[in-house]
Amino acid sequence: MTTFRTSPGMRDLLGPEAARRRAFDRAFVSVVGAAGYEQIVPPILEDIGVFSRIGEATDVVSKEMYDFVDRGGRHVALRPEQTASVCRAFVEHRPSLPFKAWYSGPNFRYEKPQRGRQRQFDQVGVEVLGPDDPHADVEVIALGWDFLTSLGLGDVELVLNSLGDPEDRRRFTEAVGEYLTSRAGELSEQSRETMQRNPLRVLDSKRPEDASIISTAPRIEEFWSPEATAHFEAVRDGLDRIGVPWRLDGGLVRGLDYYRRTTFEFRSGALDSAQNALGGGGRYDGLVEDLGGPATPGIGFAIGVERTLIACDVESVFPVPNTGVEVFIVDTTGGSEALALATELRRAGHPVDRGFGARSMKAQMKAADRSGAALALIVGEDELASGTVTARFLRGDRPQEQWARSETTQRVAAALAEQRPPDTTES
Ligand code: HAM
Repeated sequence: MTTFRTSPGMRDLLGPEAARRRAFDRAFVSVVGAAGYEQIVPPILEDIGVFSRIGEATDVVSKEMYDFVDRGGRHVALRPEQTASVCRAFVEHRPSLPFKAWYSGPNFRYEKPQRGRQRQFDQVGVEVLGPDDPHADVEVIALGWDFLTSLGLGDVELVLNSLGDPEDRRRFTEAVGEYLTSRAGELSEQSRETMQRNPLRVLDSKRPEDASIISTAPRIEEFWSPEATAHFEAVRDGLDRIGVPWRLDGGLVRGLDYYRRTTFEFRSGALDSAQNALGGGGRYDGLVEDLGGPATPGIGFAIGVERTLIACDVESVFPVPNTGVEVFIVDTTGGSEALALATELRRAGHPVDRGFGARSMKAQMKAADRSGAALALIVGEDELASGTVTARFLRGDRPQEQWARSETTQRVAAALAEQRPPDTTES
């Protein structure tokens, strides 16, 4: 018999991990929702042209796209990220400016799977279209920072750079290209290959043999226009003003081509350096125009969910939340009493699970423990005969009690109010 497994780089999220994923979203929404961002849910699949704007020379577009021709002859792709989709949606619907949106959902890149690098991965992110005010950059960066710290992460560094205006970037790219060509013989083989397609990406190389060449490469700040310089100064001043620490890194060029001016990354010291970017973003003032819209500045970030949760594991923060089941009904009779009791309690607003099939008391008590419930209610033949249920408290050392069946719902409410731990359940 053939059995199937998930494709490489893709995975299932089961109960507790899925609950943690939802809690992650809730934590994100509570931070960005409080800053006036509204959700956008773009489709997962778009015309390939939307994503070509990320940059034909980038790995994301040239090597990693999941694209195909659909039955109607359209060349489409699974989205590798959502910034381009948000800009496409903006051009299509023209919401009023500033347009401040958040998103959460899967993206697809045909990468070599490893820890923290999948082919299907989730991102949460925000995009702001409209303002070119440096304080919009500061707001966006601070939201990413505040969100990561709200998870409890402590070992996170904000790395900043500015790629200048398009003409600055073009001159810089040319200068880096010339410089690298002159030193090509000393570069690693991979960097020699990258240099042909995208010279700036070589500055991102972490290979030891490239380090000394990179350290004496032309520096981006020598190419900033006065306007780009002033903008970046205002961004750094703004971050200082609100106490968000940052480190300048002229080598931060990012893997997508649409950036200009501010770029940034949140890096975790808890992860391997090849996958230590929890998230990143920057300004992409030309992207809306590239997608056929009016000239509209934009800035945003995306945070990788899986990677951030790995960092949370390493730092022992943001644990798997309680599943929320508070009461577990153990039924050894196989009759309809457990059905009636479970329904009554659920209708009264209590999260209730139950055993089925009149399995052994031991097996059902195990299931009750696993469920995370605070209270097990036992419906056995004796209880049925006496019109009672037995209440067993699964946390603490309160001894078991016998409750009249007719009073059970009130007794449950009172017992749970006493037992409830500090708010770890889902709302
Ligand atoms: P990005 O740097 O390509 O930027 O991705 C952002 C984050 O998504 C990364 O820092 C990483 O945590 C996560 N990520 C990327 N690829 C993978 C993968 N294969 N497996 C696991 N996690 C991954 C963007 O996507 C831009 N759209 C960010 C942005 C928004 N810029 C402006 N607005």
